[in-house]
Amino acid sequence: MTMNIQWNAKGYTQNFSFVHQYGSDLFSLIEGQGLSVLDLGCGNGALTHQLRQAGFDAEGLDASPELLETARELWPDVPFRLGDAADFQAGRHYDVVFSNAVLHWIDPDRQDAMLRCVNRALKPGGQFIFELGGYGNNALIHGALEGAFTQQGRTYRMPFYFPSIGQYAARLEGAGFKATYATLFDRPTPLNGDDGLYDWLRMFIKTPFQGMDSAEEEAILREVVEALRPALYRDGVWYSDYVRLRCRAVKETV
Ligand code: BEZ
Repeated sequence: MTMNIQWNAKGYTQNFSFVHQYGSDLFSLIEGQGLSVLDLGCGNGALTHQLRQAGFDAEGLDASPELLETARELWPDVPFRLGDAADFQAGRHYDVVFSNAVLHWIDPDRQDAMLRCVNRALKPGGQFIFELGGYGNNALIHGALEGAFTQQGRTYRMPFYFPSIGQYAARLEGAGFKATYATLFDRPTPLNGDDGLYDWLRMFIKTPFQGMDSAEEEAILREVVEALRPALYRDGVWYSDYVRLRCRAVKETV
């Protein structure tokens, strides 16, 4: 499922800016100043730009040509490169690899290759600072999708990987890292607009609908929105039931 999405880069930038607004909270886990940083899965480059504004020598890497085109338009002075997170040659060694809201898009069976790639891109003692959807992320949303697919006689295939601390710490250690910080926490997140949940589903849930006609897809989405209204619509605002796994890991020196 590596980055199994054709990104709507403009829509993402306009309606889902909360992704990088929350992402900047992660900067505080970086130990040191003025360090070289690779922003892995940089998307539209908003956080790469903010890292540079915070004094880091940051560059971005992303697998989506559409998002990189937007990134280069928005931040012409920032270096961006096309590359697959699980199969890239860094060409240099960084002090920090940083990643926000990206790693859950990578198939479980490519996670170890990605972590080894990140490890190779770091200097000894270098830091891997990241956040992804963690165990239980969007459990209500995916549960409702599964229910609606089943009602239509279809099978819902979960398109993301949301690991627990234990699962991810074991992977980190296997790839040559020492995990020095890990936390899993709920972060219910307000979505923009009256159709916030519908728009979120349309933006992010793509592969389960592949090959389905648009009328059936629309019926499922409407069903999911109504099923989730009691739990995720409060005082005129839609929320996504996000759970974050946030970590700091250090490349072992031996
Ligand atoms: C997340 O940030 O947790 C996420 C965003 C879009 C789709 C799936 C997960």
